[in-house]
Amino acid sequence: MKHLALLTSGGDCPGMDTAVRAIVRSALHYGFSPIGIHRGFQGLLEGELHPMDHHSVSGIGHLGGTILHSARTPEFQKKGGLQKASKTLERHQIKALIVLGGEGSLKGAARLSQRVTIPIMGIPASIDNDVSGTDYCIGYDTAINTGLQALDRIRDTATSHERLFLVEAMGHTALDIPLALGVSGGAEEILLPEDPVDLNRLHKSLEKGRKKGKKSSILIVAEGKRAGRAFDIAARLKKIASHYDIRVSVLGHQQRGGSPSAFDRILASRLGHAAVKAVHLGEQSKLVGIHGGRVVLTDLQRVSQKKTDPKELLELCRLLASP
Ligand code: F6P
Repeated sequence: MKHLALLTSGGDCPGMDTAVRAIVRSALHYGFSPIGIHRGFQGLLEGELHPMDHHSVSGIGHLGGTILHSARTPEFQKKGGLQKASKTLERHQIKALIVLGGEGSLKGAARLSQRVTIPIMGIPASIDNDVSGTDYCIGYDTAINTGLQALDRIRDTATSHERLFLVEAMGHTALDIPLALGVSGGAEEILLPEDPVDLNRLHKSLEKGRKKGKKSSILIVAEGKRAGRAFDIAARLKKIASHYDIRVSVLGHQQRGGSPSAFDRILASRLGHAAVKAVHLGEQSKLVGIHGGRVVLTDLQRVSQKKTDPKELLELCRLLASP
């Protein structure tokens, strides 16, 4: 029996379990014996490999998180880590490895693939949606819908109390989540991570709205490199806009959990199956993504952080909210 191993790495996201189910069931279909590696690359270093079967993935397609558990493992990226990981793969006679994760995890998978002869398939799974070679990462759609539900609720309070809310969206330095929430939630502004916030311009724009009768406002703050950035901006804004009743709400890890949306379940099922099929067809290491609605395979070595041009959605957000 050919052993096909799989692991989930980095920040968990909704749809990882749906993909795990698709990989295990597809592996069995193509005659592989699926092996689950627990706790991501950490489990690969420590030899936490467990055989899986049809029943081990029963009833998990609708779950958030990952039954395989996940971890951030910086030491894996170092030379000794890669060597140890390749030895584990050899020792357990693994003939292919499938890695689910975000940009950092997939780059780790690419480095490992340079040291081993077996194919390593990468599947983009991250709420941040910042992986090149795919239009969408698994988990992003659910995360923006979870964020949007929260935003709609916050708007109720903002309206009732005539407040200014700063809502911080998760997504590290990636822009897709804050841009999506700003436009879909009808926010006044989206404050991106790399921009030094021009508080005077922001204040003027809020005042313009207030003079025209706007009683409440919502600003989306991109998380950036450090969570809690919205509190700093709120404190500085309060100094020049003391008459505003300002509140901060950090969406945080709520955006990473929960049952995957239909979109994410379909995407996860397609990419999970395609990754196994690619191994079956003899492909070398690839990133398995989606482009224009079709599954596409690209060289795993080319994986990098996708940069979204924010211009269109930033301007649209401001235009639609303009009084
Ligand atoms: O990469 C996914 C992500 O949720 C980012 O949006 C966020 O900045 C980070 O992970 C948080 O990581 P952790 O859960 O390790 O604190």
